[in-house]
This record gives sequence, C-alpha cells and structure tokens, in this order.
Amino acid sequence: MRDSYGRQIDYLRVSVTDRCNLRCIYCMPESGIPHIEHSSILRLEEIQQLVGLIHEALNLRKIRLTGGEPLVRKGIVSLVKTLSQLAETAMTTNGILLPKFASELQEAGLSRVNISIDSLKNDVIRRVTRRDVTLGMVESAIQAAKENDLNPVKLNCVVLKGVNSGELADLITWAHNMGTVMRFIEHMPMTDSQCDHVPRDRILEEVPAEFIATEGTADMYMTPSGIKFGIIAPVAGGMCANCTRLRLTAEGELLPCLAGGESLNLGKMLRSGNSSTEMISAVHALVAKKPHHGACGGVSMWRIGG
Ligand code: 5AD
Ligand code: SF4
Repeated sequence: MRDSYGRQIDYLRVSVTDRCNLRCIYCMPESGIPHIEHSSILRLEEIQQLVGLIHEALNLRKIRLTGGEPLVRKGIVSLVKTLSQLAETAMTTNGILLPKFASELQEAGLSRVNISIDSLKNDVIRRVTRRDVTLGMVESAIQAAKENDLNPVKLNCVVLKGVNSGELADLITWAHNMGTVMRFIEHMPMTDSQCDHVPRDRILEEVPAEFIATEGTADMYMTPSGIKFGIIAPVAGGMCANCTRLRLTAEGELLPCLAGGESLNLGKMLRSGNSSTEMISAVHALVAKKPHHGACGGVSMWRIGG
C-alpha cells in the first residue's frame, strides 16, 4: 500500500525484545531498561500472528528483526523460520551471539545481517558498549555471518563527537578488508541517549568521498581509493522521502515513524479479540497517516531497534 506521500510501505521492522546484553551509550541507560511486565511482551506466536496480519494488509517485501538485541530472545530461530516464509527476513544485531547462532539462522531462512561496530579500539568499544566487548568478538561475528552466507554483511557505526570521530577512514578500510560495507549513522538525540552527534557534512570532511547512489535510507559514497561506504543521516535529513518502513515494538505497538507520532496498539487489539478484518483496516488507516517526516526525540532506541 502507498501512503499519502506515494511511498510504498512494504518493509516491517520487528523489535522482538527490549532487552540487550550491551548498554550502548547512544541507546540505553547504564542501569538497563526499565522493568517491563513479562506479560506485556508479545509471545512468539503473537508476533507471528501480527506479522502475518500486517503482511496480509501490506504484502511485505522485507522484514527485519531488531531489539534490544534480537539474539537474546528465546525461540528467535523458530521465529525466523516462520517469518522468512512470508518475506525476505534480515536482522540487525550487535553480533555478540552470532557465532553461536549464525548457522541455525541461515538454515531457518535468514537472508542477511547488519552488525554494529563503533570503533576499532578496544577501550573505545568498551566505553561505548559499557561491556567487555573487543574488536575480536565483532570480527568473529562478521566471519560467522560470512561463512554462513548471511551476505551482504553491512556494518553500522554511530558517529559520536569526541568518541570515534577521527577513526572513520580506518573503519572504512577495515570494513572493506573484512569483505563488508561500512555505514555511518548520524547519532539521533533519542531519549536515553547521552552523546553529541556529528553531522553528515562533518563526516564527509573527515573522509572526502563522492556520492554515488541512494540505497534505501543510506546515501552511498566512494572514496578516492575506490571503497564504498554509506551515510545514514536522520538528522541532516533527506532520508524520510525514501522511507518504506513501519515498526512493531516488542509490546505490539505499530509505529509509522521513528520519531513517534500516532501509533496503533495491535497487540492489544489481538488480545482483546478483534477480528483480522478490523486489524487489517486499522493497519491501512495507520499507513494512510504515516507522517511525511519526523523529528527525533520522543522515544528510546532500545524500544524500536533503530
Ligand atoms: N542514533 C542513531 N542510531 C542508533 N542506534 C541505536 N541508537 C541510536 C541512536 N541514538 C542504531 C545503532 C545500532 C542499531 C540497532 O540502532 O546503529 O546498530
Ligand atoms: Fe543493545 Fe543495540 Fe542498544 Fe547497543 S544499540 S544497547 S547493542 S540494542
């Protein structure tokens, strides 16, 4: 279905859990997320039902599983198995548990993964994730993904003033040598984030490059030495025009935009016995109201999975 600005809404991001094994400074408070009643989190069968229903409403082209960290959710492999029968299913992960799960995920039908990496320096990685994560762990995750054909592997780096700015050229080269593509994300000032953002223009001053194409919400560039990388610029703007997404939170809320706006509590509708027809019309009504663009700030990233 097209929204009122002509965008074909056929990409669903599904946050399967609010929990995470890391505490990235741009995403979560140090103490972790507030305690959420276990019963308010959708059961796996409910996620399957809701995604099935959204698929019926919108004919999804792509599903992406996010978190928190999707691999800490019990039953994630069986969820991938069902969802990948509906549409191409990918995952955004911090990679820590990927060596353990990559082969099962591939067999279950996962097509590919995006992995987070914010620095090549172990002390900076520790400072950002607030956990004992090393570059070696991320390299193992990338290797596991590649060995199990979860390609192309894309890497997400949130650029943070005074933290990893200064390393961007090294990150591009390292990612290329690992057989992956680096994508720099402008930090979004969401609730629970405590960092300063580096705008796209400043990123391009640090790593001069030529614009080549737009791929979804990422603008792709080429360095003078011929290496491709991406910039995702939610703050500088421009990406909303190509946004084809809806987001389903772990509690069953369907959000038309990262920046919040009106949402639909589909989980509640399911639990209170609404018919599929009623829920499908509600999804159509939400898509019709998807905002043209949003302003960041009102929500936390651990709830919506980036
Ligand atoms: N700004 C930009 N990107 C963020 N992510 C998490 N929090 C933020 C933020 N405040 C992205 C990270 C991670 C993905 C799950 O979400 O890149 O890889
Ligand atoms: Fe966890 Fe990802 Fe948030 Fe980091 S950004 S705390 S890895 S959910």
